[in-house]
Amino acid sequence: MPHRTLILGLESSCDDTAAAVVLNGRQILSNIISSQNDLHRRFGGVVPEIASRRHLEMINPIIDEALAKSGITLGELEGIAVSHGPGLVGSLLVGVSTAKALSYALDVSLIAVNHLEGHIYANFLTGASVNFPIICLVVSGGHTSLIYMQDHGEMEVLGRTRDDAAGEVFDKVARALELGFPGGPAIENLAQRGDSAAFKFPRALMSEDGKLDFSFSGLKTAVLNCIRRETEQGRSVKLEDLTAAFQEAVVDVLVEKSLLAVRQNPVKQLLLAGGVAANGELRRRMRRRMDDEGIELVIPPPQLCTDNGAMIAAAGYYNLRRGRVASQTLNAVSSLGLKGV
Ligand code: KG4
Ligand code: ZN
Repeated sequence: MPHRTLILGLESSCDDTAAAVVLNGRQILSNIISSQNDLHRRFGGVVPEIASRRHLEMINPIIDEALAKSGITLGELEGIAVSHGPGLVGSLLVGVSTAKALSYALDVSLIAVNHLEGHIYANFLTGASVNFPIICLVVSGGHTSLIYMQDHGEMEVLGRTRDDAAGEVFDKVARALELGFPGGPAIENLAQRGDSAAFKFPRALMSEDGKLDFSFSGLKTAVLNCIRRETEQGRSVKLEDLTAAFQEAVVDVLVEKSLLAVRQNPVKQLLLAGGVAANGELRRRMRRRMDDEGIELVIPPPQLCTDNGAMIAAAGYYNLRRGRVASQTLNAVSSLGLKGV
C-alpha cells in the first residue's frame, strides 16, 4: 500500500446519498451528504422507490463535490469503497453500480463494505486509538447489536434486537406524536425539557441472566397505548414528559446491556456507532457508566454517527490493507449479515 492511500467512499443504502475522500483510513478530506429527509417527511418514513430515484439524481454531483472539496483528482485514488448491504436494494444498487463503473474506468480497487462495519469504522475517524479487542454497540434505524471485534474484519455478534431496532422505535413513536421524520432528533429535543419520571415504561430482557439480546417492541406498544389512553380520556399528553420517559427507557437498556457485554469479555474499550449514537442522553449516560467501570468509551461526533461516506471509506481502507478487494460481479445484498466481513 502506498504511504498516501486515498479512498473514495460511497453510501446510498437508505435515504442519504453520500461521498467522501479519506486519507489512510483516518483523515477526512471531504465528506458530502445529500439528505432526503425533506422528501420522505410527509410519508413519515423512507419510501424506497423515491429514495432510489433521488440517489440516481444525486450520486454524480455528490461525488464531484466530494472530489472538489478534497482537492484531489480521480487519478490519485487508490480505491472506491461502497456500502453493498444491508439496506434497501434499489438504493444500494445506485452506489454499487457507480462504484463498479468508476473503479473499472479508473482501473483502481473496488472495495465492498458492509454498512454496519462502516458505522463501526466511523470510530477510526475520531483520532482516538482503537485497541483490539473491543466491543461496539451499533444502534441505528435498522440495527441494534453488540459486536465483539477481535481484530480488523473479525467480528462476532454477541447480541441483537429480537424485534424492532432502537432507531426504528424512535421513528415510530415520533410518527405517532406527529413529530416528523427522522424521529430521533425531534424526540431528543423535546425530552430535554421533560420529566422522565412522569411515565413508567418497560425495560425488556433486563433481567434475563447474562443475555445480550434486546427487544424494543414492548416498549413501543406501551408508549403507543399510553398516547391512546391519555387521548381517549381527554387528557393532553405532555410531550416533553412522555418523550423523556421513553428516551430514558431506551437508554437504560442500551447502557446496561453494554455494561454486561464489557464485563463478560476481555475488553478495555467500548465503541458506539449508528444514528442513535448521536443521542446526547445516550452519550452522557454511557460515558458516566463506562468511566465508573474503567472502560474507555469512543464515540464518533454526531455527524459521523448517522450515515455518511467517510465511514465507508475508512472501513474500505482497512479491507484493502487486508487484500479484500471485490470483483466486477459485486452485487447489492439487502439482508447482508456481518459474518465473513
Ligand atoms: O445510522 P443511521 O443514519 O441509518 C441507519 O443505518 O439506519 O440511523 C438513523 C436512525 C433513525 O432511526 C434516527 O431516528 C436515529 O438514527 N437518530 C437518533 C438521533 N439521530 C438520529 N435517535 C435518537 N437520538 C438522536 N439524536
Ligand atoms: Zn446506517
